[in-house]
Amino acid sequence: MKKGKVAVFLSGRGSNFESIYRASLKKESNYEIAIVISNKKNARGLKIAKKFKLKNFYVSSKSFKSKKEYNQYIIRLLEMNKVDLVCLAGFMRIIDPEFIEEYKNRIINIHPALLPSFPGLNAQKQAIDHGVKVSGCTVHFVDSGIDTGPIILQKPVKIKSNDNEELLSKRILKEEHKIYPDAIKLFFENRLKIDGRKVIILER
Ligand code: GRF
Repeated sequence: MKKGKVAVFLSGRGSNFESIYRASLKKESNYEIAIVISNKKNARGLKIAKKFKLKNFYVSSKSFKSKKEYNQYIIRLLEMNKVDLVCLAGFMRIIDPEFIEEYKNRIINIHPALLPSFPGLNAQKQAIDHGVKVSGCTVHFVDSGIDTGPIILQKPVKIKSNDNEELLSKRILKEEHKIYPDAIKLFFENRLKIDGRKVIILER
C-alpha cells in the first residue's frame, strides 16, 4: 500500500503532531509524516521532530522579502517532499489565500471547540466564559476564514460546574489526539467528499 504523505505545520508544544506521528507508526496506518515545518525556532514540536528523526524545518516569514516569496518557498518544500495533505497542528499563523488555493481541500486543522462556536484564540476559555455545558474539538478543512472551513469530525466534551480553562483544555486535548489521526486516515481512504459546507463521510 502506498502511504499518503503528510506535512505538519506547528508553532508550539506539538502534542497533536506527536499523536499524528504515533498513529502513523501503526501497522495499519495509511499515511506517513514527510515533513514538519515550524514558524517558531524554539517550538517544542520541532524538538520532537528532531528526536524522531523526521525531516524538519524552521521557516520564518520574516526571512523573506514578501508573503509571495514565503509562500512559494513553502510550496516548493512541500512539492519536493511530495506532500498530499497539510495538517495544521497549533500553527499560529494565518494561512495566505495563495497557499490555500495551491493546496485546495488538502489543508486541515484542529480546533479546541465545537465549531462554529468559539473560533479563534482561547477557545476553551471562551466556552467556559460563555457558560456552555458542552464544548469539544473539531477537525476541519481550511478555507480563507478563521476556523470556518467544512467540518470533518467533532468530539463533544462536557463542561463541569467547577471546570477551569486548564482542566477543560486537558480533557479536550485528549480527544483532539484521537480525532486528528482518525480524520487523516479518512482523508487517505478517499472517504471525505466535500459538498458545499458539508463533508460527507463515505461508507467503505
Ligand atoms: C491545540 O489545542 C489545537 O486544538 C490548537 O492549538 C493547540 C495545539 O496544541 N489549534 P499542540 O501544539 O498540538 O500540543
